[in-house]
Amino acid sequence: MTRPASPAQPASDAQPASSALPALPDVPGPIERPRRLRSSSAMRSLVRETTLRPADLVLPMFVREGAREDRPVSSMPGVVQHTEDSLLRAAEQAVERGVGGLMLFGVPERKDPVGSGATDPDGVLNRALARLRSELGDATVLMADLCLDEFTDHGHCGVLDAAGHVDNDATLARYREMALSQAEAGAHLLGPSGMMDGQVAAVRDALDAAGCADVGIFAYTAKYASAFYGPFREAVDSSLTGDRRTYQQDPANAREALRELALDVAEGADLVMVKPGLPYLDVLTQVVEASPVPVGAYQVSGEYAMIEAAAANGWIDRDRTVLESLLAFRRAGASTVLTYYASEVADWFTTGLPDHLREFA
Ligand code: PBG
Repeated sequence: MTRPASPAQPASDAQPASSALPALPDVPGPIERPRRLRSSSAMRSLVRETTLRPADLVLPMFVREGAREDRPVSSMPGVVQHTEDSLLRAAEQAVERGVGGLMLFGVPERKDPVGSGATDPDGVLNRALARLRSELGDATVLMADLCLDEFTDHGHCGVLDAAGHVDNDATLARYREMALSQAEAGAHLLGPSGMMDGQVAAVRDALDAAGCADVGIFAYTAKYASAFYGPFREAVDSSLTGDRRTYQQDPANAREALRELALDVAEGADLVMVKPGLPYLDVLTQVVEASPVPVGAYQVSGEYAMIEAAAANGWIDRDRTVLESLLAFRRAGASTVLTYYASEVADWFTTGLPDHLREFA
């Protein structure tokens, strides 16, 4: 039964009935009333499907070699390049608040074609890992970005051949060395993020051969050549002039992510990751469905910058947007979310969510 067309009338629940309208025929109400389960905060809480906990979040952190004070990253308000000391303080605070883990990135003072700083035990990333591991022990999961781009003067994720192309297999040899340096320094999980073919197998083999069977691999499995990494390039003082399209995935492709997943799992990945985050939730869901290991998602620098910029203009409610975006990753099936908001959000949860955020508890 359909309602007869009524004269134009604003659609609002609060509209008073107008006596000028023709009487409506007596029709039955809707059979299904999903709104019943949305009727109060308590009811919504009872039926909420997805939750967010501090332990689900991993905080990516930057440490700058030789820095005497923190350096703000202008495109990521609130994010800094830490000194070794401030890195430790921020890490301790995040761990106290209950974040699930820390992912470290190094910003070296000197760079060269093979990224020597990445395998120097005294290099910025390895030093920071060693310091954090000795201070924090096993109280958190310490992760290291395993990639050469921060350390190479050309800014690529691998070493170059004579023609200037990224040399996949020569890069694997460097990743093996880097894996051993990071394991030696105390990382619990290594995050190979260079998208070289065979990188997980190479790292696993190097670790096992060196007696580091307990060090795990959090593989950047489906990593796209994305414009959303823009602010990160500032955060690590990237030297890259070109792009990474010969090794990172084409944003148009989803099937390829499942191929990368099968390879990474077969090669020994303990966890896998999809990156960037929100623009790739469809890829995340497909990877979650197919993966036998836990899946992480990375809310990258550009996603952070967009929220901050819109919030600074008063265009969105920052805190609600942050929690809604993190919840979306969990709803799509991510076990773990890497986010620059990890420590702040963990603090909201541990000190008690303010009233306007209660719905996320
Ligand atoms: C590579 C790496 C990048 C990011 C994490 N690891 C940059 C890139 O691939 O160009 C981006 C993270 C972000 O944008 O927040 N070492």
